[in-house]
Amino acid sequence: MKTDQNNELNKYLLKEKIHIIDEVVRLFHQYFSWDENTEETVSVIASDLLYCYLTDISEGRHMVNDIGIKIGIFMRRKQLDIGNMLAYLGDIRIFLENLVRHQPVGKLDQAEGIAKINSFFIDVQTSIILPAMELLNEELANKSLEIRKKEEQLLRNERERVQVLSKLSNSFAHEIRNPLTSIKGFVQLLESRIEKPCDEKMYFHYINQEIEELEDQVNQILFLSNRKNHQDFKLKPVQLNGLIVNALQTFQPVFYDHQVQVNVKLLRHTAIKGVEDQIKLACYKLIQNAVDALLTKENNRKIEVELKQHGNAVSLVVSNNGPPIPTVLKESIFDPFVSTKELGKGIGLAITKQIIEKHQGTIQFISDGYWTTFTLTFPENKIINDMS
Ligand SMILES: Nc1ncnc2c1ncn2[C@@H]1O[C@H](COP(=O)(O)OP(=O)(O)OP(=O)(O)O)[C@@H](O)[C@H]1O
Ligand SMILES: [Mg+2]
Repeated sequence: MKTDQNNELNKYLLKEKIHIIDEVVRLFHQYFSWDENTEETVSVIASDLLYCYLTDISEGRHMVNDIGIKIGIFMRRKQLDIGNMLAYLGDIRIFLENLVRHQPVGKLDQAEGIAKINSFFIDVQTSIILPAMELLNEELANKSLEIRKKEEQLLRNERERVQVLSKLSNSFAHEIRNPLTSIKGFVQLLESRIEKPCDEKMYFHYINQEIEELEDQVNQILFLSNRKNHQDFKLKPVQLNGLIVNALQTFQPVFYDHQVQVNVKLLRHTAIKGVEDQIKLACYKLIQNAVDALLTKENNRKIEVELKQHGNAVSLVVSNNGPPIPTVLKESIFDPFVSTKELGKGIGLAITKQIIEKHQGTIQFISDGYWTTFTLTFPENKIINDMS
């Protein structure tokens, strides 16, 4: 509300115009130290600010808005920090408040004048903040769009990389498999010509072992690109208890050498319909990964292998208390050729996933800093025994 007393106060303030503008400019230099000569612009804004303030704000809110926008544009053009700008306006407010306190008008008029200053500056600051927020939101939206595009591009690149690698390794595997088959045949022919046990017989044993290892690796690569479904396999009963015990026995020397504590929890009479060699391979891959993770720590190495029953489904769970799976890996861990190991091929989990999916089951993992757990779940229709 416009009052005569306010007019009186304004008259006094108007007399201080030069002093006010000088202080506004001085404070500006104090807040925004730079070489450029901005004195003129700041003085203009300062006079506008003063004029706007001295005009009754109840009549001229749009002017407050205008001056806020003007300061906002100036701020962005000169790339001034918004926090600094708000603090700077806060100091101008305190300065004006003190000035009002020293004018020869009544206490009530002073209080009214100060209230008016506070409300004026709140309005100015709000009209600076709002467009800045809108701009910030827009920038953020643009940035997240940019990030999403980059992520999509990365994903596309990764898929292309996996496709190229899959094709390449698949054709290498085929190239290796054919000569390997004939090498194997000739070696067996030569071996059959040695009758008595002798050194050579022993060498053949090693050669055959290495050939088998090579064949295994080649078959695993080929398995990855093999989209054949399980209708193409003859499913047989697979005793999970026995399979787990056998797998753990194979790893026994490693557990012993590296002091790995093993804990096994089995279920009675657990058999599923499946391809035994494949399930065995999946189980080996999970245990091998658990061992690999444990070998990166000094001591207190633990592995747990467990069979669990959920309703009518059965899970094979392999856990270890090694270092956690890095977050960046979590999205792509089941993709082929993803590995953090120096000599890792990165196919273990891809093969395991393919195996369990071909049994219409699922694979899941949790890695929380203490334990990493991989769970293979076989569906109800693959369970044979009454497990009650
Ligand atoms: N139990 C685990 N604990 C911690 N990290 C794991 C675990 N299992 C898998 N990983 C991470 O996932 C990656 C992929 O595992 P995967 O078995 O597919 O390949 P790999 O073990 O590196 O090589 P390989 O083909 O010889 O098995 C590993 O390199 C490792 O970083
Ligand atoms: Mg592995």
